[in-house]
Amino acid sequence: MSKPAKTAFAEREFEFTDVDFACVRELLESLAGIAVSENKRDMIYARLAGRLRAIGLRRVSDYCDRLRGGQDVRELEHFRNAMTTNLTGFFREPYHFDFLREQARGWAQAMRPQGRHLRIWSAGCSTGEEAYSIAIALREAIPDIDDWDVRILASDLNSEVLARARRGAYPREAIAGLDPSRVRRWFRRGVGRNDGWVRVVPELARMIDFEAFSLNGVWPSMVQMDAIFCRNVTIYFDADTTERLLRRFERILRPDGLLFVGHSETLKGLSDGFHLLGQTIYQRGRK
Ligand SMILES: C[S@@+](CC[C@H](N)C(=O)[O-])C[C@H]1O[C@@H](n2cnc3c(N)ncnc32)[C@H](O)[C@@H]1O
Repeated sequence: MSKPAKTAFAEREFEFTDVDFACVRELLESLAGIAVSENKRDMIYARLAGRLRAIGLRRVSDYCDRLRGGQDVRELEHFRNAMTTNLTGFFREPYHFDFLREQARGWAQAMRPQGRHLRIWSAGCSTGEEAYSIAIALREAIPDIDDWDVRILASDLNSEVLARARRGAYPREAIAGLDPSRVRRWFRRGVGRNDGWVRVVPELARMIDFEAFSLNGVWPSMVQMDAIFCRNVTIYFDADTTERLLRRFERILRPDGLLFVGHSETLKGLSDGFHLLGQTIYQRGRK
């Protein structure tokens, strides 16, 4: 006897209708600018299921009702945290940090009109590896950096990953691919109950300000940036949201400021306020 054919959808623990999916998509779009395509339905369900279990609801529609009013600020935060994808790593897309190091050497040698002053933003920093990699690249390039006025802003809308970024502690595997001399210089190994963990050295941590806010919402007041890293973030946005964000980046960057985007991201057709310098590295202004 042949086995019965598997149904297309396994029995679900929580009721999740088309209307519920539409509601979740709308909420994510308005809260985070994140556009969810139809083929992400199962991924969204899996992420929602964790929240429903945690707060004891049976149906996604009840969860939507709870979020829609906007009053339950705490649950909205859990929702945003559960819905974002946070994959990152130290020196991810290493050519960006090689470029930054070279650029910073140039800044150190040149008499820049703005003096020994640098502002860099890791926008969508996740658990912080990107911001610490920027700090390492700057320290490697500018030996007297402690005499400079340097701040790195590291922001994300996910408060959970940002708390981890602030801690600066990582499982040892996170630095497995790094050059051993870099590991010795920039990380401290945990001992006792922190065995298996490493922590970034305080010289790096004190260069960074961590702030939770959404890129498509209100930003805290900012001075002009020398460079913005916004990598592997706009892949989750639709074209309109990305265009708006690029216009805001253009305004906040100094005239020849740099914008680093992820390996699969491009500004083509979205902004004519930048020109391409090299592998997904843009500079403000037309060529
Ligand atoms: C895939 S991670 C990329 C991390 C890092 N930039 C990198 O390339 O390794 C994307 C990050 O963007 C954040 N994010 C997504 N939408 C955001 C928004 N509207 N505002 C701020 N951060 C956002 C997510 O929480 C997540 O931590």
